[in-house]
Amino acid sequence: MCGIVGYVGPDQAVPVIVEGLTQLEYRGYDSAGLGVLTARGPKIVRAVGRVRDLEATLPKRLSSTIGIGHTRWATHGPATQANAHPHQSYDGRILLVHNGIIDNAAQLRARLVAEGIEFASDTDTEALAHLIARSQASTLEEQVLDALSQVSGTFAIAVVDSTRADRIVVARQGSPLVLGVGDHEMFVASDPAAIVRHTSSVVHLDDGECAVVTADSFRTFTAESSDTGKQPQTVDAEAIAAEIGEHASFMHKEMFEQPESLRRMLSGRLDHRFATVRLDGLGLDPRDLRSFKRVKAIGCGSAYYIGQLGASLIEDLARIPADAEPASEFRYRNPIIEPDTLYVAVSQSGETADTLFAVQEIQRKGGHVVGLVNVVGSSIARACGGGIYLHAGPEVSVASTKVLTHMGVGFAMLAVLLGRVRDLSHSDGARILAGLERIPDQVREILDREAEIGAVADVVADAKSVFFIGRVRGYPVAREGAQKLKEISYLHAEAYPSSELKHGPLALIAAEMPTVAIVPDDELVDRNIGALHEVSARQGPLVVVTHEGVEIDVDVARIDVPKSERELDPLLMTVPLQLLAHQVATRLGRDIDRPRNLAKSVTVE
Ligand code: AGP
Repeated sequence: MCGIVGYVGPDQAVPVIVEGLTQLEYRGYDSAGLGVLTARGPKIVRAVGRVRDLEATLPKRLSSTIGIGHTRWATHGPATQANAHPHQSYDGRILLVHNGIIDNAAQLRARLVAEGIEFASDTDTEALAHLIARSQASTLEEQVLDALSQVSGTFAIAVVDSTRADRIVVARQGSPLVLGVGDHEMFVASDPAAIVRHTSSVVHLDDGECAVVTADSFRTFTAESSDTGKQPQTVDAEAIAAEIGEHASFMHKEMFEQPESLRRMLSGRLDHRFATVRLDGLGLDPRDLRSFKRVKAIGCGSAYYIGQLGASLIEDLARIPADAEPASEFRYRNPIIEPDTLYVAVSQSGETADTLFAVQEIQRKGGHVVGLVNVVGSSIARACGGGIYLHAGPEVSVASTKVLTHMGVGFAMLAVLLGRVRDLSHSDGARILAGLERIPDQVREILDREAEIGAVADVVADAKSVFFIGRVRGYPVAREGAQKLKEISYLHAEAYPSSELKHGPLALIAAEMPTVAIVPDDELVDRNIGALHEVSARQGPLVVVTHEGVEIDVDVARIDVPKSERELDPLLMTVPLQLLAHQVATRLGRDIDRPRNLAKSVTVE
């Protein structure tokens, strides 16, 4: 995590950096800092807390046309001013910001301390600043390469040198970094969102790539100093920039964008004639599609839960075995990669380190992996080559909402595609396509019931702990509902398959422990109502997400959602749970878009 931004050009660097850091706060927000080169030498300002706390600390006059900034999500050392970036070398010359983790930081620190260098922070980053300063190489670029050759781990770094105040040197290994090419000015950033208000001309650096930028030029090169000759690409600045508008939070704005963004995602992708979908970005022809005997979704957190929901859609519609696994576990267990399995990497940011490494592990072992990714040009999207872009637009809130429904729709389309080259009939394909087309309006209907769901939120907001239960295709919905609630309300929430209640957790059910139950009107409805009885008999308060017409003969707070096709119902049932979590968090006065201890894009292992 952590966000990096840098500027060199004719304008004042500080406002550009502060504005960029504000856009990058989603990457980490426990402390922030900036370092500029002034006529009187380097100047660093750092603050614990948000970018606005940094802004409040800035001196009134801080004139400079070159500088770097950082917003931090602590890994090594607590969130203190001393641990905030930039870090400075022992001789004061080098300022450096870093996103990632230096694995051999302890050894480097011990070596440098033995040489008499004093450390001012607990971070892994500071060692790198000292290594650059003590390098005997002749240019800043070479000094950075020399230092990096002694380092193992993941990084995106930006470095300035007070004796070469015309340039910023950057390097990328495992953490995202882009250059922004302006008119006699240059930018560097972890994400184009930080710089698109200034330029839409962007260079994506690859792992192992470095760059030196001055106001008028840039050069990209490898760790061995060979030029890579990268050229800028034009990005869609409007699509990348996100404004909160009249909404109370980005999460609220993003939930309410779903009908429109889903319509956009579906547009041009449904093929009614053959009752299938067009997903050319996958790069798979019918013969390829038929050759897969299994599908495995990998992703982290909510992306994993939606992967689980997607796996059940694929089993239902394409009748091929499918499952999901957290990418963070997958990559560590020496997975057996099967040549006839289609792996699907699921990610909003496209930068989640665990998912990216899992993709690389699959590819290293010869497996076929496609991406279900939102951010165009992100590391996972580029590593996968083929995939389905989600086209949800920017998602700023740490709690993912709209992108998750897009992921669900992406899986439904993939399921139809795989199904229609197998045994999914034309009429069933057409039934699902019609269901998909209704989804944007049905999501709108659910969003319109925000106030109603607010009344239900009172049942949950007073609790210390909440159960979420669902059966089979309702279980991933329960897991995602629990995840959303705990993320932004800080209430303990736990999801269980309904069928497992009686095997242990029923012991916890009591008047002060509400249960949110997912009860679709499907072939399992009677079994699910049975679970409601088990909870009710123990005086457990119940909130039930269900369909109109489902008769529930125990006392519950009920949230009815519009009925879709059986296979698509779970997807719609995630939407009221977004609203519920938002309402509970609002009642508890939480910082909805920036929940404690979290970050939007988890680019560390
Ligand atoms: C979602 O609300 C969470 N913030 C989190 O679980 C997230 O889904 C996960 O970190 C994966 O992120 P990605 O989709 O960007 O890969």
